[in-house]
Amino acid sequence: ALFDGGEKPLKGRKAIVTSGPTHEPIDPVRYIANRSSGRQGHAIAAALAKLGAEVTLVSGPVTIADPFGVSVVHVERAEEMRDAVLAALPADVAVMVAAVADWRVASAADQKLKKHPGESIPTLALTENPDILKTVGHHTMRPKLVIGFAAETQDVESNAKAKLERKGADMIVANDVSPATGIMGGSRNSVKLVRHDGVEQWPDLAKEEVAERLAALIARQLG
Ligand code: CTP
Ligand code: CA
Repeated sequence: ALFDGGEKPLKGRKAIVTSGPTHEPIDPVRYIANRSSGRQGHAIAAALAKLGAEVTLVSGPVTIADPFGVSVVHVERAEEMRDAVLAALPADVAVMVAAVADWRVASAADQKLKKHPGESIPTLALTENPDILKTVGHHTMRPKLVIGFAAETQDVESNAKAKLERKGADMIVANDVSPATGIMGGSRNSVKLVRHDGVEQWPDLAKEEVAERLAALIARQLG
């Protein structure tokens, strides 16, 4: 790694990281969610802190521990995640790693939905969730560096390029999560960095190594 002698190149810098899934309630006992362990986002928050950054990690529901040296805001829903991210601005860098649910149930029930066998089966009316990365990428307090992740199952590079533009990001870290890769929920990651000036493929690495390399790159980029 580039900084392994205890250097703190990110001292005095503020970072916001999102991680994990969001849970969107259907009723008090049921929810819609994405698959996400939070391992990659949490590792990035820890790696940035290790380089001296003051890190706010906004985490959806995960089973892994809060990383060391990071201030963690725990949320459930996408709207709560958005609010927590905006409350943490201004920052020098934002890394949005969370697997945010794209939709929520338009009007979640206050009481548990009961089944009525042989009769009505509920249908869920969905509404779109806020796009947190896009909001931050176009914000008046936009961090100098805005980084997104994109888990794709096909056309990884072209999908990531489109997201780079749409969301006002400086970089999209794209990975192929098609089931055959075994990436989802695993401990390793094979990513492509998609930037406005080109694409860089990183080798298959442990999620912690991806995090360390990314933190080093962020430190270089912030100068
Ligand atoms: N993201 C976000 N808020 C959302 C949806 C996505 O902040 N409501 C962020 C993710 O954290 C990630 C990036 O946007 O950094 C890309 O997420 P992805 O789900 O791949 O992109 P979408 O725009 O939702 O497109 P799609 O799911 O249709 O591929
Ligand atoms: Ca999505």
